[in-house]
Amino acid sequence: MNAPTKPFDTEALRYVRQPLPHDSGPKHVQGVAQYIDDIREPEGTLHIAIGQAPRARGRLISLDVSAVRSTPGVVAVLTIADIPGKNDVSPAFGDDPLFVDSEISFLGQAVFAVVATSRDIARRAVKKAVMEIESEVPSVTIEDALERGETVLPDYAYGRGDADAAVAGAPHRLEGRFRVGGQEHFYLEGQVAMAIPGEDGDIHVYSSTQHPTEVQHVVARVLDIPDSYVTCETRRMGGGFGGKESQATQWAVTASLAARVTGRPCKIRLDRDDDFILTGKRHDFRCDWRVGFDDEGRIQGYGVDLLARCGCSVDLSAGVVDRAMFHADNAYWMPAVRVASKRLKTNTVSNTAFRGFGGPQGMLAIEHVMDQIAWATGRDPLDVRYANFYRPGENLTPYGMEVEETDTLHNLVRTLEETSSYRERRKEIAAFNASSQIMKRGIALTPVKFGISFTLTHMNQAGALVHVYQDGSVHLNHGGTEMGQGLYIKVAQVVAEEFGIALERVRITATTTAKVPNTSPTAASSGSDLNGMAAKIAAGAIKKRMIVHAAEVYGVPEDQIEFRDDRVFVGNESIPFDALVKQCVLARVPLSEAGHYKTPKITWDREKGTGRPFFYFAYGAACSEVIVDTLTGENRLLRTDILHDVGRSINPAIDVGQIEGGFVQGMGWLTTEELVFGREGHLLTHAPSTYKIPVASDVPADFRVSLYPNTNREETIYRSKAVGEPPLMLANSVFCALADAIHSLDPVKPVPLNAPATPEAILRACEALRGRPMG
Ligand code: MTE
Ligand code: MOS
Repeated sequence: MNAPTKPFDTEALRYVRQPLPHDSGPKHVQGVAQYIDDIREPEGTLHIAIGQAPRARGRLISLDVSAVRSTPGVVAVLTIADIPGKNDVSPAFGDDPLFVDSEISFLGQAVFAVVATSRDIARRAVKKAVMEIESEVPSVTIEDALERGETVLPDYAYGRGDADAAVAGAPHRLEGRFRVGGQEHFYLEGQVAMAIPGEDGDIHVYSSTQHPTEVQHVVARVLDIPDSYVTCETRRMGGGFGGKESQATQWAVTASLAARVTGRPCKIRLDRDDDFILTGKRHDFRCDWRVGFDDEGRIQGYGVDLLARCGCSVDLSAGVVDRAMFHADNAYWMPAVRVASKRLKTNTVSNTAFRGFGGPQGMLAIEHVMDQIAWATGRDPLDVRYANFYRPGENLTPYGMEVEETDTLHNLVRTLEETSSYRERRKEIAAFNASSQIMKRGIALTPVKFGISFTLTHMNQAGALVHVYQDGSVHLNHGGTEMGQGLYIKVAQVVAEEFGIALERVRITATTTAKVPNTSPTAASSGSDLNGMAAKIAAGAIKKRMIVHAAEVYGVPEDQIEFRDDRVFVGNESIPFDALVKQCVLARVPLSEAGHYKTPKITWDREKGTGRPFFYFAYGAACSEVIVDTLTGENRLLRTDILHDVGRSINPAIDVGQIEGGFVQGMGWLTTEELVFGREGHLLTHAPSTYKIPVASDVPADFRVSLYPNTNREETIYRSKAVGEPPLMLANSVFCALADAIHSLDPVKPVPLNAPATPEAILRACEALRGRPMG
């Protein structure tokens, strides 16, 4: 044994809390990170195109694919007749067929699939099908669905006290209708899957999915084979953002069915326009609200009806709309409150998860109401927000969960108010606006409180698999998927820390259902909370066995054995980590372990509308300043200051990246990204030419992002907090700043502005305040 290299360790953690680069970063910039379309295709791989319904609603009377079939290069045409098992690719409710049976429920819905020797042949052949359709007038808008009374799920509501009586009895009352638009995920890597048939009907499917387990189970269901015959593997996605939580499944299933029918490897990669048309988006909402408040702007009663356009099926609308309801309060105490919801069925593609999972829509509505109260009382919008913050004694959410960290909320917002010089800039902006007739500036500081956990309790679990090999290298696998958010590096840091070994020893490996089974999707921002903990448990168990072995061999008490600096310290001496590993192998100590973690404390009784659906809340706030050309609606974000709570960060570089990216994605949602459906149910905005996402030049020139120094009061992995989704809602500050700028045109009128605040919408609001509505 050698003398210890570093006997007195001052810094407790070596890898956790370090701003380490994303493990795929260098590979991304060199173009060597493998996405599914980069995997070398096995010889004889076939390619798939989808035959789409040309009407949004009606009945398929007949389908003639003979011309498709006889096209040279076409190997197979898959229709409902080729499905051995269930014609169902839905996550839970059985209402998403792989191929239309007879009822058509949206324009573009898959009716059949062509499998050909090239993608080009498949795409050309698909157009030769002849479909006879008895079409009906589709429901496209929220109003269409309301009129027909069609929903995908029953209405749901909860609350406290008599909200309507409280509103009616308050000194001041307001009510309104606020619309919040949807959002296309626009992941850079579109939907893609490749399936390879094996022996005995086995299928190995590579899928760009956030939920490999669901892909596995649904492939098995549709092919009518046991789950154990199907393996789903996902090394990384080029973005998921919720769009691959349930809606990657259909493409993986299509590829698997094609592989089954042809006996050859089959691949599907959706063209960008098809990806827009065939996959669901963020739900758009109509929020009908009423509020009663006192002279200070303090809410006495609040009621809101959240009407969501769910599209043609349930998909994840149960959880998405529930989460909109859970965030209808955001950071504000409401003595009497009623939150109601409708999940409306339309003949449009089924809407799905999108970063924030309904939370952003519910939260933006109450932020809009805060502004309305400020305009009505003439008070600063930030003061109205302060007046309504949760505080000790007034800290019960409408669904009965206690907000325990009210001081985090207050201190964080107070700090940002100071560091952003909110008050001084507010004065300066008022002076600017008084002397500038056309160009108007606006500022807003808005808070975020976001609940962390899946609201379906059983989903809050994860597994990990860790092997230590003879040479001391470590194989790490867990159920979480990498979509760019940095989950893999964070979990690798946790494992390196646990073993006290160099990060390079930890080999990050692709997520696969063959290694860790029955996983939850990587979603609800819980990836590192869940998988980090499961991996720590697995590594910890192996380490424990190595300690027991070393204690016995060296005759040293277990508590005097420590793993750090790539060595194992045994009393006053140390040996290299790999030397102890080798000893353990020779001594027949098992060096592989599966860890499992389940989140504690969560209870949610949906029936009663009360409980603790979240383990904890993540907090943040943003202050944004904009300038608006009130004659054109053109605008620019000048500066944004963000203070965000990630607890004690596992990796501050990754976390800041998530905050910046989330904010910019939210800004796109609220300012330039607009989905437009035609009366016949056509999506008119299905390409970057008509759908505008933010680009690098839209990032504010002055962008100041800081982490709020905090510790998670709950025992999460290294006391960190989830970061994936909450920052998206920091962009509410941009929307409110735009409304603030418009408001300067007429300080007594409310600003009639819905989301997204596109230049057209801004111009319309400006003209309305000037008393010349544009219709
Ligand atoms: N960041 C990148 N770069 N790409 C993504 O697709 N998805 C977001 C967020 N951040 C996403 C992302 C969404 S919707 C979620 S739920 C979380 O990451 C999921 O990962 P996590 O649970 O590991 O944070
Ligand atoms: Mo994220 S919307 O929970 O995938």
